[in-house]
Amino acid sequence: MAYEFPYDDWADIYDAVYADLTHDLAFYAGLARENGGPALELGCGTGRVSLAMAAEGAAVTGIDVSPRMIAAAQAKAANRGLAERCVFQTGDMAHLQLAERFPLAVMPFRSFQSMLTVEEQRGALLSARGRLTPGGTLALDTFNPDARSLADDNMASQPHHLRDVERAGGGTIIVWGQNGWDPVTQINDVRLIIEEVSDEGVVERRLVRDFEQRYTFRYEMEHLLELCGFDLQAVYGGFDGGPVTEDAEDLVWVARAE
Ligand SMILES: C[S@@+](CC[C@H](N)C(=O)[O-])C[C@H]1O[C@@H](n2cnc3c(N)ncnc32)[C@H](O)[C@@H]1O
Repeated sequence: MAYEFPYDDWADIYDAVYADLTHDLAFYAGLARENGGPALELGCGTGRVSLAMAAEGAAVTGIDVSPRMIAAAQAKAANRGLAERCVFQTGDMAHLQLAERFPLAVMPFRSFQSMLTVEEQRGALLSARGRLTPGGTLALDTFNPDARSLADDNMASQPHHLRDVERAGGGTIIVWGQNGWDPVTQINDVRLIIEEVSDEGVVERRLVRDFEQRYTFRYEMEHLLELCGFDLQAVYGGFDGGPVTEDAEDLVWVARAE
């Protein structure tokens, strides 16, 4: 595997920015609980979702292309007493080498959007399909593409505020985003600007992280799933299981291996 993905740079700051996110945990951990068997997470990062599934009793295998993300996930599993239930290993979800099969595979928090070509998209879905037992479930989420707002927030404009997170040890982490949306490739050149601000309002550190995400429109994704051997069970406009609406930020997909 030629490792070129920029996420390794993220490993030291990822948890400071995202570990507090819980909006999707009940959904994925609930699937693991209902499923009752082992679960596979593709693009597991530092284990935010894998560990929530393991806490429900599932034996979890987490795969990520970034060795530093995997090291962080292993450390967190050990800290939480979940190491025996978790295997974290590096791997490329578009070219997955793994013998084991699972009744449940997940790709939470838009990991699938790191697949930037149709070959990679198909590779990731076929990898998941090949690792599922017959009738097994694939669940993932993607951004619901809103081409207008992607274009409005373009790089040429000012960064837009994304979120504030409490900083461990005091102060705030403020996350800003800028988009470089290309409507032809459906790839967004994302720039995140992460500011660590003290309680006195002094910006103590400013990090810039650039990465790309490919967007799939709803029916494009439906075709991709079918092409890769899945029977679509549901697409929701969020983790509460509501319908897809224009305002929905996330598309949440549940499909069964045919
Ligand atoms: C937005 S993060 C999501 C992490 C985790 N699922 C979560 O919910 O916190 C996307 C993850 O996908 C991983 N990733 C990107 N391309 C990948 C690939 N080809 N194979 C495996 N993992 C990949 C990145 O390293 C990153 O950790």
